[in-house]
Amino acid sequence: MDTYTASASRYDTMQYARCGRSGLLLPRISLGLWHNFGSVDDYAVYSRTAFTAFDRGVTHFDLANNYGPVYGSAEENFSRILRDGLGRYRDEIIISTKAGYDMWPGPYGNWGSRKYLLASLDQSLRRMGIDYVDIFYSHRPDPETPLEETMEALSDAVRRGKALYAGISNYDDEHTRRAADILRRNGTPCLIHQARYSMFDRWTEPRLLPELERQGIGMIAFSPLAQGLLTDRYLHGIPDGSRAARPTGRLRPEDITPEKLQRIAALNDIAAARGQSLAQMALRWILRDARVTSVLIGASSAGQLIDSLGALDGPDLSAEELERIEQILA
Ligand SMILES: NC(=O)c1ccc[n+]([C@@H]2O[C@H](COP(=O)([O-])OP(=O)(O)OC[C@H]3O[C@@H](n4cnc5c(N)ncnc54)[C@H](OP(=O)(O)O)[C@@H]3O)[C@@H](O)[C@H]2O)c1
Repeated sequence: MDTYTASASRYDTMQYARCGRSGLLLPRISLGLWHNFGSVDDYAVYSRTAFTAFDRGVTHFDLANNYGPVYGSAEENFSRILRDGLGRYRDEIIISTKAGYDMWPGPYGNWGSRKYLLASLDQSLRRMGIDYVDIFYSHRPDPETPLEETMEALSDAVRRGKALYAGISNYDDEHTRRAADILRRNGTPCLIHQARYSMFDRWTEPRLLPELERQGIGMIAFSPLAQGLLTDRYLHGIPDGSRAARPTGRLRPEDITPEKLQRIAALNDIAAARGQSLAQMALRWILRDARVTSVLIGASSAGQLIDSLGALDGPDLSAEELERIEQILA
């Protein structure tokens, strides 16, 4: 393929927010490579999604060691995207990766030991063909490993120059507070927390978001479209090729209940009255909260990505719209 050259207008429309009390600005919309970038996917399609993202100011690409399938393939495929032109802009992009879930067999390929985290980060760097990642995450807390050990591994990754910042994902408020204390003592403060957050999953609201604000840690919301439920994708059945239809998709047909579909249709009506797609409104709803630095979307095509980026256009949600949304979600 022709080598990619980025659009000269790439910074014209994206908005950026400071990640917690750090110096790092992240785009309000970031792109995740959990689905759609694996060995089962089509390079021509997903490379276009990535290039289109960067052309529109999406400077942040989120990966993990086991994204694929097969495990590791999203990182390998991202290295090809870098080689095909995106890599020329390495100083303009934020690349994150994680370790914490099942990756390789045996006792050292999962959870939160120092052995696993540092070996996994080296593997990720090799797969992506880069010298450092911008953010390295502990992907989940490990109840069997002292938190000090897991955090020390993140700190060492930063001290060794293999990561610029440390992050945590899927930690509750109490583990977040303890992790933040340790990382601060280590001189490598916690930059960011990556947590699931959408209209359909609000576990972060009562305690985690207030804790992050107290700690000065940024928050990036993953699966903000509830894996596609909070879009028009499933309003008229399960389309071929959709995440729920694909055997490798983590959204299952049984997740699409009649009760959910009713709410989705009602939310879709509010979005239509605003002149937005439901995806756009669902993202805008998350971004109403200034404690959220960025929403971390997935996209199976450049067209979906462009639609989702439209979330940043148009007026804020009014008090009346927010109230109607609450009633539908109640
Ligand atoms: N830290 C963690 O534990 C964790 C866990 C999960 C995810 N994540 C991160 O969060 C990222 C996003 O997660 P996600 O993929 O579940 O996010 P999502 O944005 O909730 O769902 C993405 C899916 O929604 C559909 N979609 C996206 N935009 C659309 C649009 N404008 N109109 C209609 N449908 C649209 C597509 O489904 P189709 O494929 O059906 O087209 C797409 O694959 C991941 O890539 C990963 O980086 C992190």
